[in-house]
Amino acid sequence: MATKKSNTIKLKFDSARELAPAPESKSAATIKPQYELFINGKFEKPASKKYYHTINPATEERISSIAESNQADVDRAVKAARQAYEKTWKKMPGKERAKYIFRIARMVQERAREFSIVETLNGGKPIRESRDFDVPTAANHFFYYAGWADKLEYAFPNRQASPLGVAGQIIPWNFPLLMAAWKIAPALATGNTVVLKPAETTPLTALKLAEIIQEADLPPGVVNIITGAGATGAAIVNHPDVNKIAFTGSTDVGKIIQRAIAGTSKKATLELGGKAANIIFDDAPLDQAVEGVINGIFFNQGHVCCAGSRLYVQESVFDQVLRKLKDRMETLIVGDPMDKNTDIGAINSKAQLDTINKYLKIGLQEGADMYQSSCKLPGKGFFCRPTLFTNVAQSNRITQEEIFGPVLTIQTFRTDDEVIAKANNTPYGLSSGVWTDKGSKIFNLTTKLRSGVVWANTFNKFDPVSPFGGYKESGYGREGGLHGLYAYVNVK
Ligand code: NAI
Ligand code: MG
Repeated sequence: MATKKSNTIKLKFDSARELAPAPESKSAATIKPQYELFINGKFEKPASKKYYHTINPATEERISSIAESNQADVDRAVKAARQAYEKTWKKMPGKERAKYIFRIARMVQERAREFSIVETLNGGKPIRESRDFDVPTAANHFFYYAGWADKLEYAFPNRQASPLGVAGQIIPWNFPLLMAAWKIAPALATGNTVVLKPAETTPLTALKLAEIIQEADLPPGVVNIITGAGATGAAIVNHPDVNKIAFTGSTDVGKIIQRAIAGTSKKATLELGGKAANIIFDDAPLDQAVEGVINGIFFNQGHVCCAGSRLYVQESVFDQVLRKLKDRMETLIVGDPMDKNTDIGAINSKAQLDTINKYLKIGLQEGADMYQSSCKLPGKGFFCRPTLFTNVAQSNRITQEEIFGPVLTIQTFRTDDEVIAKANNTPYGLSSGVWTDKGSKIFNLTTKLRSGVVWANTFNKFDPVSPFGGYKESGYGREGGLHGLYAYVNVK
């Protein structure tokens, strides 16, 4: 019986891997050999005179040269944002601001194919995901907040909402265009101006967005996009003329930012790490739950702050779930991110691959059992097999710390109370998932799980209308929805 089962799976697996290559074409996107800083509506050379290479993590080939901003460049960008704020943007009626934001949204849509190609080449995520998730969701965010720009009196009834001023925005490499949209759209809708810094490994779609912003004829200085690494980010955070910091990234840097702005009047929203519990009860539709677990941890190579990286399975269905999970993992296609059949693309950087591999070693040293799918990995580029760990303890580092890769830990539980205690036993609190057929169980858990988002019988679902953000070391403040507007206004 068991042999027969594994034969069928092997056949399925072989045929999945025999799919003919279906690569998206690189030539549908233009990438310049060198990018400058987008300041005051123009592309300008960095005062630092320094550039660095951005690469394709799937091939390790250089794609383009990127300007590295120093303090003088940050000063210039903040000055441009301040002038644009005082002279035009804060005075402009919401109805007029909305037109610009709608224009950006439409232009992102029109150039969606180009954006998805560039996102995949620069970041390593499967083209299917950039095409079907990142780019359309980014456009949706601009559409959604464009709609609010002339309706702020309804968002804050009987109160007066005024913009904060210049927003310094620092974003990570896991959803480069989408995070730029999450940051820029609500800031502009509420009348703030922006200095945004993309992550050093993935600057290209933000720079393409700068091209769109230029073409959309936004008043110069309303959005400035400057590139560079942590030091550039720190210069934005510490700039005295910045009124608000919006940061998405590691909890470590979140803490540095919090210390840096203590005692200043700067406002901040921090979207940090996560270690989400995904919980399967024995009455759940198991095949759907397994699909949800696969999506929860392997979407975007697991480079997702809300990834479902800790699986809790009710004891009576553990063997069944584990078998289904391993079978499904075998069918995942790992490889060329530009291939439309690829499920798992490249790890974003060598540094991140080293971090993930470090955790795989830690897991083994902690005595856990590691299982990886048997796929072949490409010879070049940064890749990691989908991995799961069983026989793990709640106190293990692989259960407690954010790995940010395609690595799942699995534990069992017997009762609701037990799984609630285990799920909440983490320094983080960004998201969680519950799989059960029982509505009462869903209500019981959603009220007791300490995380900003709880998904029920689904996972990793996003909508611009729905606020997103964390508890505890996952940060504070909400992005998306009506809540996302609060982060950019003073309310009287
Ligand atoms: P990071 O937090 O260092 O980088 C995120 C952004 O912050 C980048 O734009 C970076 O240039 C900037 N930055 C770095 N140091 C800064 C500073 N002192 N002041 C201001 N800005 C600064 O994240 P990193 O090092 O790339 O990844 C390390 C770990 O962080 C990952 O393994 C993952 O666990 C976590 N992470 C979480 C993300 C999330 O979405 N919550 C996103 C990226 C990383
Ligand atoms: Mg870092």
